[in-house]
Amino acid sequence: MDRYEHFAPFYNALSGEWPVYSAGREAGIRALGLRAGMTVLDLGCGTGLNFPGLLSGIGATGRVIGVDGSPAMLAQARRARGTGVDLVCADLTSPLPGLPRVDAVITTYVLSLIPAWRMVWESVVRPLGRRTRVCIVDMQRPKGAYGLLSPLARAACALGGSDIDAHPWTVVEEECDDVVSASARGGHLQIRAGTLR
Ligand SMILES: C[S@@+](CC[C@H](N)C(=O)[O-])C[C@H]1O[C@@H](n2cnc3c(N)ncnc32)[C@H](O)[C@@H]1O
Repeated sequence: MDRYEHFAPFYNALSGEWPVYSAGREAGIRALGLRAGMTVLDLGCGTGLNFPGLLSGIGATGRVIGVDGSPAMLAQARRARGTGVDLVCADLTSPLPGLPRVDAVITTYVLSLIPAWRMVWESVVRPLGRRTRVCIVDMQRPKGAYGLLSPLARAACALGGSDIDAHPWTVVEEECDDVVSASARGGHLQIRAGTLR
C-alpha cells in the first residue's frame, strides 16, 4: 500500500483509466446488476473511480461503503465522493467489524496486488453471506492480437505492484452461483460476478 500513499495525487491521471481500465470497471458494475436502494461495498476503493457508476446504479436511496488501507487514496476519494458514500480506512486482509448488511461487493484492480488475496476473500467477502452479489475485476496477460501489448501490460502491473498471474477472479467461479463472465482489452481485463452461495 505504501506506493499508493505517494502515488495518490497522480493516480487518476496516470493509471491508464482511459483508454484501458475504465472498460473493466464499467463492465464490472454492469455485471453486479444493481438496483435502487442497494448498499454496495467497494473494497480497495482507491480514489473512488467506481463511485459514479455505483451511485448511478443504486440511486439516491442507496449507499456505497468504500474501504481502502491508504489514507492518501481515501483523501482523494473524499474530495470526489458525492452524497451516499461512506469511507473506511482498513486493511482488507483482516475482518471488517461493524459493517452493515450489504447487498453487493465489488473490487477492481486490488486483489492481484495482495499476495494473501484469498485471505481477503475468507475474512471479508465470504462472511458477507449467502445471496450477496460479488464482482472481481482484475488483470491478466493480454491475448491474441493484443498480446503485442503484453510488455506494456506487464510494466503497468509492475508499476502498480500487481501480480499479473494471480487471477483472483477464479474464486468467483469456484464459490458463486449465477456467474457472469466478461473480458475486455484483449482479455487483459477479466470480470467475474456471481452470487455467494
Ligand atoms: C490499483 S488501486 C485500485 C483502486 C480502485 N479500486 C480503482 O479501481 O481505481 C489499488 C488500491 O488497493 C488498496 N490496497 C492495496 N492493498 C490493500 C490492503 N491490504 N488493504 C486495503 N487496501 C489495499 C491501495 O491502497 C489502492 O488504493
